[in-house]
Amino acid sequence: MYKLKKAKSVKGELRVPSDKSISHRAVILSAIAEGKSVIRNWLSSEDTLATLQIAKALGTKVETKGNELMITGRDFNFCEPDYVLDARNSGTTARLFLGVLATQEFFSVITGDESLRNRPMLRVVEPLRQMGAFLDGREKGNKLPICVRGGKLKGVSFFNKRASAQVKSSLLLAGLKAEGITEITEPYLSRDHTERMLKLFGANITQLEGSSGHIIKIAGGQKLYGCEVLCPADPSSAAFFVALATLLEDSQLILKDVLINPTRDGFFRKLRQMGAYVEYANVREVSGEPVADIVVEGGRKLKGLNITKEDVPSLIDELPLLALVMSLAEGSSIVKGAEELRFKESDRIKAVVENLRSMGANIEEYQDGFYIEGVEKLKGANIKTYSDHRIAMTFSVAGLVAEGETTIDNPECVSVSYPNFYEDLNKIILQT
Ligand code: S3P
Repeated sequence: MYKLKKAKSVKGELRVPSDKSISHRAVILSAIAEGKSVIRNWLSSEDTLATLQIAKALGTKVETKGNELMITGRDFNFCEPDYVLDARNSGTTARLFLGVLATQEFFSVITGDESLRNRPMLRVVEPLRQMGAFLDGREKGNKLPICVRGGKLKGVSFFNKRASAQVKSSLLLAGLKAEGITEITEPYLSRDHTERMLKLFGANITQLEGSSGHIIKIAGGQKLYGCEVLCPADPSSAAFFVALATLLEDSQLILKDVLINPTRDGFFRKLRQMGAYVEYANVREVSGEPVADIVVEGGRKLKGLNITKEDVPSLIDELPLLALVMSLAEGSSIVKGAEELRFKESDRIKAVVENLRSMGANIEEYQDGFYIEGVEKLKGANIKTYSDHRIAMTFSVAGLVAEGETTIDNPECVSVSYPNFYEDLNKIILQT
C-alpha cells in the first residue's frame, strides 16, 4: 500500500525511463538480425525483461553492461525452446513473439500472467494462420497459452481494423520471412516504431496512403543487419509528470529526451488544446525517432475537450490520465471510440470510472469511453489498481492533486514499465 497527500507544486528536471515499445522492438529486431547490435539506454522493467528472457530462451546471446545491451543476432535461426516461454504481463512481448515464432519450424508455447492470459490473441493468431503457421491455444486460439509451429509462410493482405500496433508489428516480423508481399492497412496510423526501426536495420518497406487508410508493405526474404539503437525517454511515463505539473500551480518541470513521435504524443497535443503549457525544446532525431525536452508550467486554466476514434491510437495508454485531467477541467469532455481500453492490462474504462468516481469526479461510463463534467476539486480515496501499472501511476498523480489522503493498493505493479516511479516522484515534489 502507498499513501499520498496533496503536494504544493513540482519543480526540477527529470529523465524518465526509456520507451517501453522501442525497448521491446530493439531486442526483437536485434535478435532476428544478422550480426551484433548495441542498444543504449535500454529500459529494464518487468515487461521488457520478459522480452529479453524470451530472446535468450530462443538462443540469442545477450551481454548486459548497465543499461546497455550487446546482442548477437541469430538471423532468424532460433533454437527450439525447451520450456514454455513466459511473456508475463506484456501484450507486446506475446504478440510480437507470436509473429517471430510463426517463422520457425520448431514447436514452442507462449504464456503469460493471469491478466495476459485473459487478453485477446485471435487478432494476431488469425492472420498468422492465414500466412500458413499452425497456432492453437485456449478458446480456439484466442487465449494464452498458445502453441506455435511455423515455417513456410506466405504474404497476406490484412486490414488492421483496431489500428493495433502490436498486430501490425507481429505481421511485419512474420512478413520478413514470408514468400511474397505482406500488406497491412490501418484506418488510423498506430505507433510506427517497428517500421522506423526496420528501416534502421536495413529493411525496405513501403508506406502509402490509400482510400481505406495507411498501407504498409513489406517484401519477404529480407535480411536485417545489426546496428546501434538509442532509446529515448518514454512519453507514456513522462505523461504522468506532465499531468502533475499541469495540475499543480507554481509548478515547472523539464522532462529530458522524450520521444515525441506523432503516433505517440497525442496526450501532450490534447493538453495544449485544453489550455496547458506544454512546449517542446531542443527537438532532434535519435535512431530515426523525433525527440525533445518537454517544458511544462502549471496553473493554467484548463477546458474540457472531446476525443474521437481517430485520436485514440496516439494516446491510447494515456487515456486514464487524460480522464483525470478532464475531471479537473472546466466544462464537459467526451471520450469515444476507445473500447480497446477494456482489453489492456485491466479493463481501464471500468478502473478509471470506479476510481475517479470514488474521488468525487463527475464521470459516466460508455462501452467505448466516458463522459466527464469537470469539478473544482477531487478528494482522496482508496484506489484499486487491478495490478495495472498505468492505473497505479494515474491515481498516484490524482492523490497528489486531491484533498486528503489517497492509498494505492498495489504500488509494486509500476515496475512493469517504471520501476523507480515513486523515487522519481519524490525528487520533484514540494510539499505544503
Ligand atoms: C504497444 C501498442 C499499444 C499499446 C501498448 C504497447 C506496442 O497497443 O497500448 O501499451 O508497443 O506496440 P495496441 O496498439 O496493440 O492496441
